[in-house]
Amino acid sequence: MKALVVYGTRWGTATEIAEEIRKTMINEGLETDLIDARGLKDFDISPYGLVVVGSGIKIGKWTKSAQKFLKNYKSELANKKVALFVTCGAANKEETCQEGWDKYLKKVAAEKLVNEPVDMALFGSVYDPDAKLGFMYNMVKKSIKKDLESQGLDPNVRHDYRDWDEIRAWAKGLAEMIKE
Ligand SMILES: Cc1cc2nc3c(=O)[nH]c(=O)nc-3n(C[C@H](O)[C@H](O)[C@H](O)COP(=O)(O)O)c2cc1C
Repeated sequence: MKALVVYGTRWGTATEIAEEIRKTMINEGLETDLIDARGLKDFDISPYGLVVVGSGIKIGKWTKSAQKFLKNYKSELANKKVALFVTCGAANKEETCQEGWDKYLKKVAAEKLVNEPVDMALFGSVYDPDAKLGFMYNMVKKSIKKDLESQGLDPNVRHDYRDWDEIRAWAKGLAEMIKE
């Protein structure tokens, strides 16, 4: 059985996570392909038994491309094992994890999938004080900086909240489940 990792990204955070998931699955002996959901057309998912779909979040939303993938392949995905992941700011703080889990994973799974996913994961994001992320981000940057300060963190340096051990453990678990 083969696995496919599909990701939607705006700034590349989900790409690196998807790459690590693929690498881990391959290390576990599972043949795994990786594709960017953007611009995807007529892609044949029939060879895959497990499909992992992930996205970054912007103002509460998955990327259009990852949403489109779930929509276009909905009936085919109903016959496969599907796992979902997101990378988002809500995952960076314990207080907001539950909300992120409910809004970006549970709700999306209920709306977009026929069957329950075999697993879901909420991964952290990257804070980069020098990143040029556009008007919307500039609006919230001040409050993010304040929030970091209140946690005793330096808002002038980059913080990567992605827990690579957690990401690898999740991917390993999926690969093991498929091998069973
Ligand atoms: C303009 C903007 C809006 C965002 N909106 C949200 C949001 O509504 N909820 C959230 O949890 N994270 C939000 N984030 C954080 C992103 O989800 C996070 O940076 C994620 O890792 C981006 O993934 P990507 O680079 O793969 O697109 C936002 C980030 C930016 C720059």
